[in-house]
Amino acid sequence: MTKDDVLAILLKSSGYVSGELISSHLKISRAAVNGAVKALRADGCVINSVTNRGYQLISCPDRLFAGEVYSYIDDSRRSNVICLPSVDSTNNRLKDMLKQDLPSGTCMISNEQTGGRGRMGRTFVSPPNTGIYMSMLIKPTGDLSDMSKITAWTAVAVHKAILSACGVTTGIKWVNDLYIGNRKISGILTEMTVESEIGMVSNVIIGIGINVNQKQSDFPPELSEIATSIAAASGSKNLSRARLAAEVIKELDLMMDNWESGSDRYIDTYRSNCITTGKHVTVTNYATGDGKSGIALDVNDDYSLKVRYDDGTEDNVRSGEVSVKW
Ligand code: BTN
Repeated sequence: MTKDDVLAILLKSSGYVSGELISSHLKISRAAVNGAVKALRADGCVINSVTNRGYQLISCPDRLFAGEVYSYIDDSRRSNVICLPSVDSTNNRLKDMLKQDLPSGTCMISNEQTGGRGRMGRTFVSPPNTGIYMSMLIKPTGDLSDMSKITAWTAVAVHKAILSACGVTTGIKWVNDLYIGNRKISGILTEMTVESEIGMVSNVIIGIGINVNQKQSDFPPELSEIATSIAAASGSKNLSRARLAAEVIKELDLMMDNWESGSDRYIDTYRSNCITTGKHVTVTNYATGDGKSGIALDVNDDYSLKVRYDDGTEDNVRSGEVSVKW
């Protein structure tokens, strides 16, 4: 949308930008530039305009506008990045849109989710103006057995994005939750469709939720001891969600390039940041709900978790819920 592109230009400049420059850069009329500025003001952006100087952005409400995200990504990437003010679940919405034959890399980001979903049918609390809720459609080559790797690689991609956008190092709890200390700051829900006749995966939707700017007191009582945000845990204020969302997109794009090249550049970072190894854990079987305790020994090359149970047996855990005794 024009207003998003205009906002991206204003955000990139600290001073005034002439209407002429905006119109020639975006190949739109001066009237269209005026219309976009009007629309941005209606959204709550404060924009000065001075004759012969142009426009200057003074402030923008923290609503994760598309233009903010666009100001951090290449022009060519923008058309496949959709930003919404609110949605039930970005995974659901992207899934609904699959009939439209979306290209691999299509990304949906929302300022809030009213029905955010986590793994095992849980809810992912997704309040407005504080977190990042995003989903990316990818169409990787490979069959079902390769997909647990994508899940683990995504954890590394988000870990790297948080480090470069916020300067904060996160721990990876097997298989793909991100933690700061012993509190969760990000969860990933990967859903896929499989062509049953050939066992090949056709569409994978990677859903990522990140607690960015919540204060510790913002979390409901049932989460306040087990969840935190990057800002609350690191003592930062008003981290740019747009910058972080853009960094996640860049890392996921890079991840897909690496995926197609076939080499695993993620295992070392995964192992060195995995907070599960060396800890007492309980492995819960998704299907039966049965739990078994032991010690997590290592992450294998296929990202399964090597566990020695209290009864002395060992297993390489490939699925199930692993909870850590802190
Ligand atoms: C988990 O921790 O169990 C996974 C949480 C995944 C949350 C993200 S937010 C974006 C996407 N949309 C959803 O409804 N869920 C995922």
